[in-house]
Amino acid sequence: MKISIIGAGNVGSLAAMRIAADGLGDVLLMDVVKGLALGKALDLEDARPLLKSNYSIKGSDDIIQIKDSDIVVVTAGLARKPGMTREELLVKNARILKDVCLKIKELAKAAIVIIVTNPLDIMTFYALKLTDFKPSKLFGMGISLDTARFINLISQELHLPAADIEAQVVGAHGEGMLALPGLAKVKGVSLDKFISEDKIESLISRTVNRGAQIVASLGTGSAFFAPSAAIASIVKTIVKDEKRTIGLCSYLNGQYGIKDSCIGVPCRIGKNGIEQIMELDLSAGQLAQLAKSAAAVAQATAKLFV
Ligand code: LAC
Repeated sequence: MKISIIGAGNVGSLAAMRIAADGLGDVLLMDVVKGLALGKALDLEDARPLLKSNYSIKGSDDIIQIKDSDIVVVTAGLARKPGMTREELLVKNARILKDVCLKIKELAKAAIVIIVTNPLDIMTFYALKLTDFKPSKLFGMGISLDTARFINLISQELHLPAADIEAQVVGAHGEGMLALPGLAKVKGVSLDKFISEDKIESLISRTVNRGAQIVASLGTGSAFFAPSAAIASIVKTIVKDEKRTIGLCSYLNGQYGIKDSCIGVPCRIGKNGIEQIMELDLSAGQLAQLAKSAAAVAQATAKLFV
């Protein structure tokens, strides 16, 4: 498997490290900044004897090197600055994404493409339109990160391992995300048996704000450890054909009553990309919030074409 990662910033290079170290394939790290990806790839390569692993990693500033990739991860773009919303990045990152997507279409037609660039949902829908790839083969990472954050905060609150907790976040990777406490379980038992409604509400609002909290604390750049772990987990599920259900930003064509937009929902994925979009039983209010987010994504994406 050839796995290319476009964008050698913090998220891209850490994703490259995790994917290579997990032995998921031959990794190519690419960045338009001269020498950046090569330098990071050489450094990652030097760790092989120390990690007693023989993984394969290359770096390049020439996008032609992504030719015939099986999987392409797109992290290229600017990160949020303190106080900035993901949406404010829209115009700048759309320009970057357009060049990248047209190259992917030309050089790696058969690839499964994972979009990570923010604003995630809009960039995913935009990439889908630019490439005309099948929606099962182009989708976004976003709510698997938000879901991990929600689970982490629940596990901290209950002093229990994250593995004991199931939870799901759907919707936009942004302020409109929808954590679903009704589906959250601790060792199979409903979360509300363990903590009060008020506490759950506070965990949800901390989940929604977690990315911004990290941006504010870092001062420069945004989160990268958990985002890169989310990418590696999606790539592993594809490479190993695990058919696991993961929250992804996916094109919807009727599911959840949404047509022709991209938004985060749980999807079963395997070697062919998205194999099934899982339809959760949501309340009318939750469906309305999802529809509102999806409509905003479609509207913002359409604006990029005028
Ligand atoms: C976050 C950014 C990367 O959620 O979107 O941390």
